[in-house]
Amino acid sequence: MSASAAVEDSRLHDFDITDHDFERARKMIYDFAGIALSSAKRDMVYSRLARRLRELGVDNFDAYLDIVASGDAAEIEAFTNALTTNLTAFFREGHHFPIFADHLTRNGQPQTVWCSAASTGEEPYTIAMTAVEAFGSFDPPVRILASDVDTNVLAAAQAGIYTDDRIAKLEPERLERFFKRGSGVNAGKVRVREELRRLISFRQINLLEDGWPVRGPLDTIFCRNVMIYFDKPTQLAILERFAPLLRGDGLLFAGHSESFHNAAHLFKPRGKTVYGLARGKQ
Ligand SMILES: C[S@@+](CC[C@H](N)C(=O)[O-])C[C@H]1O[C@@H](n2cnc3c(N)ncnc32)[C@H](O)[C@@H]1O
Repeated sequence: MSASAAVEDSRLHDFDITDHDFERARKMIYDFAGIALSSAKRDMVYSRLARRLRELGVDNFDAYLDIVASGDAAEIEAFTNALTTNLTAFFREGHHFPIFADHLTRNGQPQTVWCSAASTGEEPYTIAMTAVEAFGSFDPPVRILASDVDTNVLAAAQAGIYTDDRIAKLEPERLERFFKRGSGVNAGKVRVREELRRLISFRQINLLEDGWPVRGPLDTIFCRNVMIYFDKPTQLAILERFAPLLRGDGLLFAGHSESFHNAAHLFKPRGKTVYGLARGKQ
């Protein structure tokens, strides 16, 4: 091993994570956020939490996990933020948005949309862009609630600032219409226009917790690419709480690898990863 590789290796593995530590961390993130980490995620847990140990000046995992277990709210938040996976993109799973646009304009009524795992904001801004385009107005009759358990990504979403690589695949017309280019110190970045941002309310919501601050009836719920982190009983418990929040003809959009066959009594497929209520209007 070269000298620089040895330094790098010792920096990467400056703490030991025992089987017991890993099991403790797994149980804690499951209890806090419903995230069921497989045993293959040990390196991920190590690298994401090691940074936190360094920041706090704590020299072993056991002591760090004691702080989290003591109920320290700030550290529970930092621990949860560290262990979420936030991959997202503008117009991800693009086949959903023409369906959503038709749904928004189906009945001439004001529309309420909950984007329940909003990450860094690309998804709720895509929802807002679709609403503006569907109604041909920056003042569409659409209210969007964007939430996530992770307070860091929620702050990024609220700021609405993205580096150029994040918007590289957006059509030039959309870029022009919905974003402002940064200059000076902000060169290489864009900011979502205020007219778009004001269509969205941002709020921290943990899908695992009771008493979501969300009032129905909702026309649409986006819950994409988060259920995959939950086990089946947790998924079912969340779907049981989504169902009464939706209007009879409401839609639930799910992620590409998420299917709710085990909840057929609640939701019926209405297209690829789009669901309507089993009890609802067809
Ligand atoms: C992979 S991202 C998906 C983002 C977006 N929905 C998409 O499809 O592009 C998953 C998001 O779910 C959030 N998440 C994980 N557990 C959660 C929970 N218990 N409650 C709410 N959000 C959660 C994570 O913080 C992360 O931002």
